[in-house]
Amino acid sequence: MILPVVAFGHPILKSKAQEVDANYPELQTLIDNMFATMSHAEGVGLAAPQVNKSLRLFVVDLSLLDIKEEEGKNYKQTFINPVIVERVGDPVAYNEGCLSIPDIHEDVMRQPRIRIQYFDREWKQHDEWLDKVPARVCQHEYDHIEGILFVEYLSNLKKMVLRRKLNDMTRGIVKTHYKMIAGKR
Ligand code: NI
Repeated sequence: MILPVVAFGHPILKSKAQEVDANYPELQTLIDNMFATMSHAEGVGLAAPQVNKSLRLFVVDLSLLDIKEEEGKNYKQTFINPVIVERVGDPVAYNEGCLSIPDIHEDVMRQPRIRIQYFDREWKQHDEWLDKVPARVCQHEYDHIEGILFVEYLSNLKKMVLRRKLNDMTRGIVKTHYKMIAGKR
């Protein structure tokens, strides 16, 4: 089932999400729905708060990106209760977007390599180093479960330029081919 995506300005996007319990009801269905929603919206990452669930859960599928295999082209994973335990390397710029903040794409600086611990959808525990695009997308999604949006990293000048667009989004004035939940009603 395709779920509506929460738009910028909604308080759930600003709150720290809760740990997922192993007995969380219908967890597999929620994960399936998140993958379906992400692919329908043509995204490459989606975090549970973006579908109005304050849970430490996100999904990643990079197959839609025009990148090479060695950059992470076929990277697809479910991250439950992830923890980024290390970030290394000099920060690099990469153009980011977000399904909750449509039509805004800006360069964000992040470290190129991370060590992340998480459970997959079978509750198998992982402890992995990621780099290239998987490391980038996982840091963006991890921020979502911490209540942080990529626009917060932009300069004050950039934020000022985008303010009108962001205010409109909060009020539900935004055109997307996927359904959204307005930031404020
Ligand atoms: Ni996002």
